[in-house]
Amino acid sequence: MEFTDFGKKLSSHSGILQLMDDIAKPLPEGVVAKPLGGGNPARIEDVEKVYRRELEELLKDGDKFEDVLCHYDSPQGRVGFLKTVATFFKESYGWNITEENVAVTNGSQSAMFYLFNLFSGKTDGEVKTLLFPLMPEYIGYADQGIEDGTFVSVPSKCEYYDDNTFKYTLDGDAVEKYLSKHPEVGAIAVSRPTNPSGNVLRDGEVKRLAELAHEYSIPLIIDNAYGLPFPDIVFTEDAKPIWNEDIVLSMSLSKIGLPSIRTGIVIARKEVIKALGNINAIAALATGSMGPVLADNLIRTGELVRLASGKVRPFYQKKAKRMEELVRKYFEGTKYYLHKIEGSIFCWLYLPGLKISTLEFYALLMKDGVVTVPGEYFFFGSEEQKKGLAYPHPHYTKCLRLNYSGNDELIEEGINIIAKYYKKYSIS
Ligand SMILES: Cc1ncc(COP(=O)(O)O)c(C=O)c1O
Repeated sequence: MEFTDFGKKLSSHSGILQLMDDIAKPLPEGVVAKPLGGGNPARIEDVEKVYRRELEELLKDGDKFEDVLCHYDSPQGRVGFLKTVATFFKESYGWNITEENVAVTNGSQSAMFYLFNLFSGKTDGEVKTLLFPLMPEYIGYADQGIEDGTFVSVPSKCEYYDDNTFKYTLDGDAVEKYLSKHPEVGAIAVSRPTNPSGNVLRDGEVKRLAELAHEYSIPLIIDNAYGLPFPDIVFTEDAKPIWNEDIVLSMSLSKIGLPSIRTGIVIARKEVIKALGNINAIAALATGSMGPVLADNLIRTGELVRLASGKVRPFYQKKAKRMEELVRKYFEGTKYYLHKIEGSIFCWLYLPGLKISTLEFYALLMKDGVVTVPGEYFFFGSEEQKKGLAYPHPHYTKCLRLNYSGNDELIEEGINIIAKYYKKYSIS
């Protein structure tokens, strides 16, 4: 038995596989997990109550529940839900869209897989690439290209502040220069808020990317899994929901309470939506119906957005503030920088004094039950890596991604242990 190149690439070890495995893997006996690793969102009671209410309504409504369970939706998604989404965004933000501009996918992870391979790979004798303009980027993208070497990237710029914080910014000139020299780029892709750093691209930065996308006639794919208007895990004012015909906007219901139901929503030009539906028919037949059924009313009435800004955002903002306080408390006296926590459910810790790689550091922490994600996995798409060298960014082996949405005491224990190990493994 032999796997194809496609089979080998997609079945080999990947950062995202390790991360998802770590979420579920039991630790050695007696070791209590301090789960600061994968992207599991928190349980928020006010959100849970609303889904329970919607489900109870469905169960009470004749045989509607059985009807939902017993039919496939269309490959593009549940027809009524597509209309609900289009109407909501048209009325709330003035976007010129109809249901033909909306698709549902089985989670936004699979939406990105479809989109990335729609726009990168072999095309008419040349190889199209996908440009990530703000490295570091989401670990879950790194291995999604079916063909090897189709992902390229531009490292972010970085600003450091006196209070042990830092922030990545878009190097717009470098992106522009790259595009001018590389006509093979088939699309640009960013997450906003950025996973792993918690950065939020400002409206001006998105506008610049969208203008470049327009100039080069390629789409700008924005992964809005933590973004606006839901789940609204965004703590800065200078960010608004943005869409135009140059943008492919990917959203998700995962971080607003429904990760297990796997519902992604894509808003894009009609031809992109048609293509996504067609791919979905081949890859998955249809999309799951339960997410659209539970969320339809909530989107139509605006309740989901109110839930996001009134409950979800404040919940994570409080958690983020506490995380920052813990990092300051336990890392005091060490050389560290914390990325400004502007959104998402993660913080990104830069440890310049670390004398081992974060891959090694992660393994040591794991023995004490502290689950983190090593930074190396979030840097991909460089020419240097193809030659077996490190990604050309000073943070490459020096950052950890920490999920702050879990249990407060376990988070504190975890941070305490990470700081102790950092002191032990720092260049003095
Ligand atoms: C930036 C980003 N995009 C996409 C996803 C995928 O989410 P889902 O497939 O659950 O919608 C995640 C999950 O953590 C993420 O962090």
